[in-house]
Amino acid sequence: MSQFKGSYFAPALAKIHSQAFNEAWSEDTFTSLLNLPTTIGWGDEFGFLLASDLGDSMEILTLAILPQHRRKGLASQLIQEMCDWALKHKKKAIFLEVAEDNKPAKHLYIKTGFTQTGKRLDYYKKGDIRVNAICMTLSL
Ligand SMILES: CC(C)(COP(=O)(O)OP(=O)(O)OC[C@H]1O[C@@H](n2cnc3c(N)ncnc32)[C@H](O)[C@@H]1OP(=O)(O)O)[C@@H](O)C(=O)NCCC(=O)NCCS
Repeated sequence: MSQFKGSYFAPALAKIHSQAFNEAWSEDTFTSLLNLPTTIGWGDEFGFLLASDLGDSMEILTLAILPQHRRKGLASQLIQEMCDWALKHKKKAIFLEVAEDNKPAKHLYIKTGFTQTGKRLDYYKKGDIRVNAICMTLSL
């Protein structure tokens, strides 16, 4: 999987995201995010991870794998690639938020070494309901 920067891949990311999430982000949202100098991505045609460089740490903004390519280790590989980059660039930690009801993602993050460090009540809006966010951290 390769690393990318810049808005060239916004349409492809929006397409994958729409197949991975019910509340998908628009192409414009990806264009804006990718135009930020702090945004870095890793991925291929099966999935991607977008992160923000916060200086001495990183934050995972989103992570999506196409449904038919899940449970093959692709997300784990993306996280590993981001961690390798973060270590090389002397980052001290990686942060993320995940919906409390997203079992696959919570299992993935625990398996890759993240631990829960907080909770944001009613953080996500899913249709008519609100879902808490679990804040997780991986110390490098
Ligand atoms: C969550 C997601 C990114 C996982 O991608 P993936 O490529 O299937 O993950 P991996 O194959 O690397 O799985 C690694 C581990 O995560 C856990 N995991 C992944 N999917 C799981 C599931 N459906 N149920 C339970 N555990 C799961 C397992 O521990 C798995 O290890 P194992 O296969 O040896 O049991 C993918 O399901 C996805 O795109 N979901 C929709 C978008 C999303 O929720 N993104 C995260 C938002 S924070």
